[in-house]
Amino acid sequence: MKKKQISLTKKRMCLFIIISFLFIPLLSLAQNTGKNVLIVYYTRTGKTKLVCETLQKNLGATAIEIKDKKDRSGGVGYSGGSLDAAFDRHTDIEPKQIDFSPYTHIIIASPIWEWKLSPAIHTLIEAHNFAGKKILLLTTANIRLDKYEGYGDDAPYSKKFFKNWLRGKNKGMEDLAKSKGGEFLGHVHFATQYDDKKLKPNEQIVKETLGALDKIKKTLSYNSDVVLNKK
Ligand SMILES: Cc1cc2nc3c(=O)[nH]c(=O)nc-3n(C[C@H](O)[C@H](O)[C@H](O)COP(=O)(O)O)c2cc1C
Repeated sequence: MKKKQISLTKKRMCLFIIISFLFIPLLSLAQNTGKNVLIVYYTRTGKTKLVCETLQKNLGATAIEIKDKKDRSGGVGYSGGSLDAAFDRHTDIEPKQIDFSPYTHIIIASPIWEWKLSPAIHTLIEAHNFAGKKILLLTTANIRLDKYEGYGDDAPYSKKFFKNWLRGKNKGMEDLAKSKGGEFLGHVHFATQYDDKKLKPNEQIVKETLGALDKIKKTLSYNSDVVLNKK
Protein backbone atom coordinates (compact mmCIF):
# COMPACT_ATOMS: atom_id res chain seq x y z
CA MET A 1 0.00 0.00 0.00
CA LYS A 2 2.83 2.40 1.06
CA LYS A 3 4.80 1.42 -2.10
CA LYS A 4 1.78 2.29 -4.27
CA GLN A 5 1.48 5.73 -2.61
CA ILE A 6 5.18 6.49 -3.17
CA SER A 7 4.95 5.57 -6.84
CA LEU A 8 1.85 7.78 -7.22
CA THR A 9 3.69 10.74 -5.63
CA LYS A 10 6.64 10.12 -7.94
CA LYS A 11 4.35 10.08 -10.98
CA ARG A 12 2.75 13.39 -9.90
CA MET A 13 6.15 14.99 -9.38
CA CYS A 14 7.29 13.86 -12.82
CA LEU A 15 4.13 15.26 -14.37
CA PHE A 16 4.64 18.58 -12.54
CA ILE A 17 8.26 18.83 -13.76
CA ILE A 18 7.27 18.06 -17.35
CA ILE A 19 4.44 20.65 -17.30
CA SER A 20 6.77 23.27 -15.77
CA PHE A 21 9.35 22.72 -18.48
CA LEU A 22 6.70 23.07 -21.15
CA PHE A 23 5.24 26.28 -19.72
CA ILE A 24 8.37 28.26 -18.76
CA PRO A 25 9.47 28.91 -22.37
CA LEU A 26 5.90 29.79 -23.34
CA LEU A 27 5.65 32.30 -20.50
CA SER A 28 8.98 33.92 -21.34
CA LEU A 29 7.80 34.33 -24.93
CA ALA A 30 4.62 36.07 -23.89
CA GLN A 31 6.18 38.37 -21.31
CA ASN A 32 9.04 40.71 -21.53
CA THR A 33 11.53 40.93 -18.70
CA GLY A 34 13.82 43.65 -19.99
CA LYS A 35 16.75 41.45 -20.94
CA ASN A 36 15.46 41.15 -24.49
CA VAL A 37 14.88 44.90 -24.93
CA LEU A 38 17.50 47.08 -26.58
CA ILE A 39 17.29 50.86 -26.70
CA VAL A 40 19.38 52.51 -29.44
CA TYR A 41 19.46 56.26 -29.43
CA TYR A 42 21.15 59.35 -30.80
CA THR A 43 21.25 62.60 -28.87
CA ARG A 44 22.73 66.00 -29.65
CA THR A 45 21.88 67.95 -26.51
CA GLY A 46 21.09 65.15 -24.05
CA LYS A 47 17.26 65.18 -24.01
CA THR A 48 16.75 61.92 -25.89
CA LYS A 49 19.53 60.41 -23.78
CA LEU A 50 17.70 61.44 -20.60
CA VAL A 51 14.47 59.80 -21.77
CA CYS A 52 16.32 56.65 -22.84
CA GLU A 53 18.38 56.34 -19.67
CA THR A 54 15.23 56.73 -17.58
CA LEU A 55 13.55 54.01 -19.62
CA GLN A 56 16.62 51.78 -19.55
CA LYS A 57 16.74 51.84 -15.73
CA ASN A 58 13.03 51.24 -15.34
CA LEU A 59 12.69 48.57 -18.00
CA GLY A 60 15.88 46.70 -17.07
CA ALA A 61 16.86 47.03 -20.74
CA THR A 62 20.20 47.55 -22.49
CA ALA A 63 20.96 50.93 -24.07
CA ILE A 64 23.44 51.83 -26.78
CA GLU A 65 24.22 55.42 -27.74
CA ILE A 66 24.89 56.05 -31.42
CA LYS A 67 27.46 58.76 -32.07
CA ASP A 68 27.38 60.95 -35.18
CA LYS A 69 30.98 61.41 -36.30
CA LYS A 70 30.13 64.75 -37.94
CA ASP A 71 30.54 67.73 -35.63
CA ARG A 72 26.97 68.80 -34.87
CA SER A 73 27.87 71.37 -32.23
CA GLY A 74 27.05 75.09 -32.31
CA GLY A 75 25.22 77.05 -35.01
CA VAL A 76 27.22 75.55 -37.88
CA GLY A 77 26.56 72.01 -36.59
CA TYR A 78 22.86 72.84 -36.28
CA SER A 79 22.61 74.20 -39.84
CA GLY A 80 24.53 71.26 -41.29
CA GLY A 81 22.27 68.91 -39.34
CA SER A 82 19.16 70.63 -40.66
CA LEU A 83 20.33 70.28 -44.26
CA ASP A 84 21.44 66.64 -43.83
CA ALA A 85 18.10 65.75 -42.26
CA ALA A 86 16.02 67.68 -44.78
CA PHE A 87 17.76 66.01 -47.74
CA ASP A 88 17.80 62.53 -46.13
CA ARG A 89 21.59 62.40 -46.17
CA HIS A 90 23.39 59.65 -44.34
CA THR A 91 26.24 60.27 -41.93
CA ASP A 92 29.15 58.37 -40.34
CA ILE A 93 28.03 56.66 -37.16
CA GLU A 94 29.69 54.80 -34.35
CA PRO A 95 29.07 51.90 -33.82
CA LYS A 96 28.31 51.17 -37.47
CA GLN A 97 26.82 47.74 -36.82
CA ILE A 98 24.93 46.42 -33.84
CA ASP A 99 24.30 42.77 -33.12
CA PHE A 100 20.55 42.65 -32.56
CA SER A 101 20.46 38.88 -32.13
CA PRO A 102 20.12 38.86 -28.29
CA TYR A 103 17.05 41.12 -28.47
CA THR A 104 13.46 40.65 -29.56
CA HIS A 105 12.32 44.25 -28.96
CA ILE A 106 14.18 47.34 -30.10
CA ILE A 107 13.37 50.89 -29.10
CA ILE A 108 14.85 53.23 -31.71
CA ALA A 109 15.10 56.73 -30.33
CA SER A 110 15.89 59.98 -32.11
CA PRO A 111 15.41 63.71 -31.80
CA ILE A 112 13.34 65.09 -34.66
CA TRP A 113 15.33 67.24 -37.09
CA GLU A 114 13.40 69.12 -39.75
CA TRP A 115 10.42 66.84 -39.16
CA LYS A 116 12.50 63.79 -39.88
CA LEU A 117 14.67 61.36 -37.95
CA SER A 118 18.18 62.56 -37.13
CA PRO A 119 20.70 61.55 -39.83
CA ALA A 120 22.46 59.23 -37.33
CA ILE A 121 19.31 57.19 -36.66
CA HIS A 122 18.25 57.33 -40.31
CA THR A 123 21.68 55.86 -41.20
CA LEU A 124 21.39 53.22 -38.46
CA ILE A 125 17.99 52.03 -39.70
CA GLU A 126 19.15 51.91 -43.32
CA ALA A 127 22.25 49.88 -42.34
CA HIS A 128 20.40 47.13 -40.45
CA ASN A 129 17.86 44.45 -41.02
CA PHE A 130 15.14 44.18 -38.42
CA ALA A 131 13.56 40.94 -39.57
CA GLY A 132 11.73 39.31 -36.67
CA LYS A 133 12.27 42.32 -34.39
CA LYS A 134 9.51 44.32 -32.77
CA ILE A 135 10.21 48.02 -33.08
CA LEU A 136 9.01 50.89 -30.97
CA LEU A 137 10.01 54.29 -32.30
CA LEU A 138 10.65 57.02 -29.78
CA THR A 139 11.15 60.65 -30.71
CA THR A 140 11.78 63.91 -28.92
CA ALA A 141 11.24 67.36 -30.43
CA ASN A 142 10.60 70.88 -29.30
CA ILE A 143 6.91 70.49 -29.93
CA ARG A 144 4.08 68.11 -29.15
CA LEU A 145 3.03 65.97 -32.08
CA ASP A 146 -0.54 65.53 -30.95
CA LYS A 147 -1.14 69.08 -32.19
CA TYR A 148 -0.87 67.72 -35.73
CA GLU A 149 -2.81 64.50 -35.18
CA GLY A 150 -6.20 66.06 -35.74
CA TYR A 151 -5.43 67.65 -39.10
CA GLY A 152 -7.45 66.18 -41.94
CA ASP A 153 -7.03 66.41 -45.72
CA ASP A 154 -8.46 69.93 -45.74
CA ALA A 155 -5.69 71.22 -43.44
CA PRO A 156 -3.06 73.64 -44.72
CA TYR A 157 -0.30 71.88 -46.65
CA SER A 158 2.43 72.30 -44.03
CA LYS A 159 0.33 70.81 -41.24
CA LYS A 160 -0.74 67.85 -43.36
CA PHE A 161 2.87 67.32 -44.38
CA PHE A 162 4.11 67.18 -40.78
CA LYS A 163 1.41 64.76 -39.77
CA ASN A 164 2.01 62.46 -42.72
CA TRP A 165 5.76 62.52 -42.38
CA LEU A 166 5.81 61.68 -38.73
CA ARG A 167 3.05 59.14 -38.70
CA GLY A 168 3.85 56.82 -41.52
CA LYS A 169 2.82 58.16 -44.91
CA ASN A 170 5.34 59.38 -47.51
CA LYS A 171 8.08 57.04 -46.29
CA GLY A 172 7.81 58.29 -42.74
CA MET A 173 8.94 56.54 -39.61
CA GLU A 174 6.63 53.55 -39.65
CA ASP A 175 7.34 52.80 -43.31
CA LEU A 176 11.07 53.04 -42.75
CA ALA A 177 11.02 50.51 -39.89
CA LYS A 178 8.76 48.17 -41.86
CA SER A 179 10.84 48.44 -45.01
CA LYS A 180 13.74 46.97 -43.03
CA GLY A 181 11.69 43.96 -42.00
CA GLY A 182 10.65 45.10 -38.52
CA GLU A 183 7.26 44.72 -36.91
CA PHE A 184 6.16 48.22 -35.96
CA LEU A 185 4.69 48.36 -32.45
CA GLY A 186 4.11 52.08 -32.33
CA HIS A 187 5.55 55.52 -31.81
CA VAL A 188 5.96 57.39 -28.56
CA HIS A 189 6.86 61.07 -28.52
CA PHE A 190 8.15 63.46 -25.88
CA ALA A 191 8.04 67.25 -26.30
CA THR A 192 11.08 68.87 -24.71
CA GLN A 193 9.60 72.40 -24.71
CA TYR A 194 6.39 73.74 -23.23
CA ASP A 195 3.82 75.25 -25.60
CA ASP A 196 5.19 78.72 -24.77
CA LYS A 197 8.59 77.51 -26.15
CA LYS A 198 10.25 77.45 -22.73
CA LEU A 199 12.59 74.49 -22.31
CA LYS A 200 11.32 71.81 -19.97
CA PRO A 201 13.68 71.17 -17.07
CA ASN A 202 15.21 67.69 -16.90
CA GLU A 203 13.05 66.73 -13.89
CA GLN A 204 9.94 67.40 -15.98
CA ILE A 205 11.24 65.23 -18.83
CA VAL A 206 12.00 62.40 -16.39
CA LYS A 207 8.53 62.81 -14.86
CA GLU A 208 6.85 62.60 -18.27
CA THR A 209 8.97 59.59 -19.22
CA LEU A 210 7.96 57.79 -16.02
CA GLY A 211 4.36 58.78 -16.75
CA ALA A 212 4.58 57.00 -20.10
CA LEU A 213 6.22 53.90 -18.61
CA ASP A 214 3.07 51.82 -18.17
CA LYS A 215 1.98 52.49 -21.75
CA ILE A 216 5.44 51.57 -23.04
CA LYS A 217 5.55 48.39 -20.94
CA LYS A 218 2.12 47.42 -22.23
CA THR A 219 3.28 47.99 -25.81
CA LEU A 220 6.31 45.78 -25.16
CA SER A 221 4.15 43.13 -23.35
CA TYR A 222 6.05 43.67 -20.16
CA ASN A 223 5.78 41.52 -17.08
CA SER A 224 6.33 44.35 -14.60
CA ASP A 225 6.49 42.01 -11.58
CA VAL A 226 9.52 40.28 -13.01
CA VAL A 227 11.17 43.60 -13.80
CA LEU A 228 10.50 45.06 -10.37
CA ASN A 229 11.68 41.91 -8.58
CA LYS A 230 14.89 41.97 -10.55
CA LYS A 231 16.00 45.27 -9.01
C1 LIG B 1 19.07 70.32 -36.73
C2 LIG B 1 17.87 70.34 -35.82
C3 LIG B 1 16.60 70.37 -36.37
C4 LIG B 1 15.48 70.35 -35.53
N1 LIG B 1 14.23 70.32 -36.08
C5 LIG B 1 13.15 70.30 -35.27
C6 LIG B 1 11.83 70.25 -35.82
O1 LIG B 1 11.65 70.16 -37.03
N2 LIG B 1 10.77 70.27 -34.95
C7 LIG B 1 10.93 70.35 -33.59
O2 LIG B 1 9.94 70.39 -32.86
N3 LIG B 1 12.18 70.33 -33.04
C8 LIG B 1 13.28 70.32 -33.83
N4 LIG B 1 14.53 70.33 -33.29
C9 LIG B 1 14.67 70.29 -31.83
C10 LIG B 1 14.99 68.90 -31.28
O3 LIG B 1 14.21 67.91 -31.90
C11 LIG B 1 14.71 68.84 -29.78
O4 LIG B 1 15.34 69.88 -29.13
C12 LIG B 1 15.13 67.50 -29.21
O5 LIG B 1 14.39 67.21 -28.05
C13 LIG B 1 16.61 67.47 -28.88
O6 LIG B 1 17.00 66.18 -28.51
P1 LIG B 1 18.50 65.87 -28.04
O7 LIG B 1 18.76 66.76 -26.84
O8 LIG B 1 18.48 64.44 -27.68
O9 LIG B 1 19.43 66.19 -29.16
C14 LIG B 1 15.65 70.34 -34.10
C15 LIG B 1 16.96 70.32 -33.58
C16 LIG B 1 18.05 70.30 -34.42
C17 LIG B 1 19.43 70.24 -33.83
